[in-house]
Amino acid sequence: MKLAINIDHIATIRQARGGAEPDPVIAAGICEIAGAEGIVCHLREDRRHINDRDVAILKDIVQSKFNLEMAATDEMISIAIKTKPETVTLVPEKRQELTTEGGLNLNSNTKALSEAVKKLKSNGIKVSLFIDPLPEMLDKSVELGADIVEIHTGTYANTFDKEEILKELTKIGAISRLAAEMGLVVTAGHGLNYNNIKPVLNIPEIEEVSIGHAVISRAVFVGLDSAVREMVNILNNYR
Ligand code: PXP
Repeated sequence: MKLAINIDHIATIRQARGGAEPDPVIAAGICEIAGAEGIVCHLREDRRHINDRDVAILKDIVQSKFNLEMAATDEMISIAIKTKPETVTLVPEKRQELTTEGGLNLNSNTKALSEAVKKLKSNGIKVSLFIDPLPEMLDKSVELGADIVEIHTGTYANTFDKEEILKELTKIGAISRLAAEMGLVVTAGHGLNYNNIKPVLNIPEIEEVSIGHAVISRAVFVGLDSAVREMVNILNNYR
């Protein structure tokens, strides 16, 4: 299982003072040297962390895979087409939320989503859809032309009830198998940390996980290089 690091929270710290540091661009390089096989950032409509300058430079300097998360708005799709990251992950976005709160509802806004996917793909960009672990989202993902589905692991990650954890893991495992059978590349993310990642490693269909908050939080204490290496080590050796 590959590790993609979401560097949004490096930019969150920068924005706390509105200056130039810490620079998420430098963070991306450190993450790659430490073994990350992908760099992810979310360009939000309100630019609360990552900004347009970050996206432009990241496209140039990321040597692994650059995955740009965004809402399927006209503004964002034109930035993506100009930037041409390897992958765009379409996510729902609400102004008031602290972080992405759930997967895309593929049953509403279908026309806008379908047009966004078409435009991105015709510009050579792979499209990932961030979805809740619900089987009905898979048919829609295929219909929309997605290459990848990123399974939202937030509900699994945020519960402490043992039965609930098992139930959510079973759902994530089942949808991952189904998605792979349908020809979709499967990734997962949201709320994953150094502990709850371990059972997820038993789902072989998940090719990559996208982790941000837990790794950046640990980096505050042990440094970014070590924080990434520790996670890479778990991914490589725990299964
Ligand atoms: N995947 C998606 C689609 C996200 O929106 C986020 C959060 O920005 C993540 C993964 C990473 O989540 P976390 O920061 O909780 O690891």
